[in-house]
Amino acid sequence: PLKCKIGPSILNADLSNLYAESQKLLDSGADYLHLDVMDGHFVPNLTLGHPVVKCLRNRIRNTFFEAHMMVDEPERWVEPMADAGISQYTFHVEATKDVIPLCRKIKEAGMKVGIALKPGTGIEAIRQYVDNADMILVMTVEPGFGGQKFISDMMPKVQWLRYNYPLLDIEVDGGVGLNTITACAEAGANMIVAGTAIIDAVDQRAVIASLRETVES
Ligand code: DX5
Ligand code: ZN
Repeated sequence: PLKCKIGPSILNADLSNLYAESQKLLDSGADYLHLDVMDGHFVPNLTLGHPVVKCLRNRIRNTFFEAHMMVDEPERWVEPMADAGISQYTFHVEATKDVIPLCRKIKEAGMKVGIALKPGTGIEAIRQYVDNADMILVMTVEPGFGGQKFISDMMPKVQWLRYNYPLLDIEVDGGVGLNTITACAEAGANMIVAGTAIIDAVDQRAVIASLRETVES
């Protein structure tokens, strides 16, 4: 069976304390960190880029870092992100015309490949590329901001992927918390991103444990 992993998004954490916030999440049982990179073009917001990732990597050595690249021209940041110590480069299928060359470039740079789809993008946009990816990210909110409402209509995409690719890593991101994770788990997601549900919790360890329990049961 596929391993379930919980990857907190640090987007809504106190970013002036990025290292401490990240370490606290890892000490509370997070399996990996989901780092949201925004460029103000692909999405109407800005966050952090490879210089910040590199500093975080200098202090946190052995953790899987996923960069969720909500950017135009995702080709541009492959090498800088690899150099910064990113483990998996997840780009949006809507942001490029050359998906297969980009997948190849990411692998050649030594990273795993993730392909993300926005809520409005149908599964047909990625089905021809699944074999080139290590993971597919089904967005369950419109990318750009944390704390939005989970869109349950995305679950058929997860179900389709799980049915056709029993061993694929499938990630959900956006509005996932204790009330919505059951739907994700039942549909077949095994990589769970949660931002505000974990960050805002008084007891992060308890929330991460409950999320994990739900996906594994
Ligand atoms: C949204 C980001 C998400 C977001 C998740 O654009 O990709 O990773 O931070 O935050 P929540 O879990 O609060 O929706
Ligand atoms: Zn994200």
